[in-house]
Amino acid sequence: MMRTVLLIWSFVALASGAGSNCSCQQELANLEAVIGRLEARLSQVETTIVVTQASLDHDLGTELNPASSCLIIKQNNPSSQDGAYFLIGKDGTIYQTYCDMTTAGGGWTLVSSVHEDDMFGKCTAGDRWSSTRGNNHHYPGGDGNWANVHTFGSMGSATTDDYKNPGYFSISASNVMLWHVPNNMPPKEYKTAAYLRYRTSNGFLEDYGGNLYSLFKDHFPIGHNLGTYTHDNGPAIPILYEVGNNSFVESLLPPNVVSGNEEIPGFVQFRVFNYESACHAVCPGVNSVGGNSEHVCIGGGGYWAEGAPRQCGDYVSKDWDGYGTGYGWSANQLVTESVIMFFYR
Ligand code: G3P
Ligand code: CA
Ligand code: CA
Repeated sequence: MMRTVLLIWSFVALASGAGSNCSCQQELANLEAVIGRLEARLSQVETTIVVTQASLDHDLGTELNPASSCLIIKQNNPSSQDGAYFLIGKDGTIYQTYCDMTTAGGGWTLVSSVHEDDMFGKCTAGDRWSSTRGNNHHYPGGDGNWANVHTFGSMGSATTDDYKNPGYFSISASNVMLWHVPNNMPPKEYKTAAYLRYRTSNGFLEDYGGNLYSLFKDHFPIGHNLGTYTHDNGPAIPILYEVGNNSFVESLLPPNVVSGNEEIPGFVQFRVFNYESACHAVCPGVNSVGGNSEHVCIGGGGYWAEGAPRQCGDYVSKDWDGYGTGYGWSANQLVTESVIMFFYR
């Protein structure tokens, strides 16, 4: 490469030296322009060689050779195991996340987690999946993180705080997988600690832009008063369980929800309203057919009217009849103190 550059410059020097005897200044200028273009092309080739060398030197899914998704890594190397890998987002951001490389053939990318840091704080600082600015009907869509490109948290703290990486809006996927994992678990224990693991299998995301970002942004926007629970709830997608079953999901629901037949186990549902037209983002494990979905569904907009501000937050109203009591309309302590993780494939 260097020898080629030297040869070209020798030629330029020769041509310049001969310039005094040459009346064709225009030809000389043309020649210099050609050399300039050659130099630019050489630089491109050098860059390509460096990038190609990195691909040869580093496995796909490592920091110097990040992949666009866990599925690509799995397809490139079918013996890939569960664990942390490096990916690259649409905007070029390199990030590390957890890949499930074994469930149903593997290739699942962890893109987000919803964590409740303080049930007693009603739409306060940690409520990124609803509102960090209080319960306010002037803020009907809340922070909007279900449908924007803001990112936060990290793979390693996905059970101790909220998590959203560039995969959430970059990856084009067909299905989601959800894990219910107790708080404060390290990544190597996410899978074994999960007491519910289930996934969709009908490719529904393909109908809604390939990820949850597009589903919420372009098809089922989140906001107070955008619809009613009888007419405007979003799709309820059937699930297959890796861990758990419908009876177990039902056993984790608040008793009043069960006695009222308000939530049907065996689904994951998106964009669900309640009696007061407050808007929830996701109902994990269920199809919501009643109007008190605030005790089961998670995340959403920025305003809940009933008992304001008691229902505002990432875990909405899981504490209506006391914190972690599992009584009346309350979730039990395990549910209240667990995250919901979202994977794409
Ligand atoms: O969501 C529960 C609420 O609508 C009714 O609560 O306390 O009157 O039974 P409560
Ligand atoms: Ca949170
Ligand atoms: Ca209610």
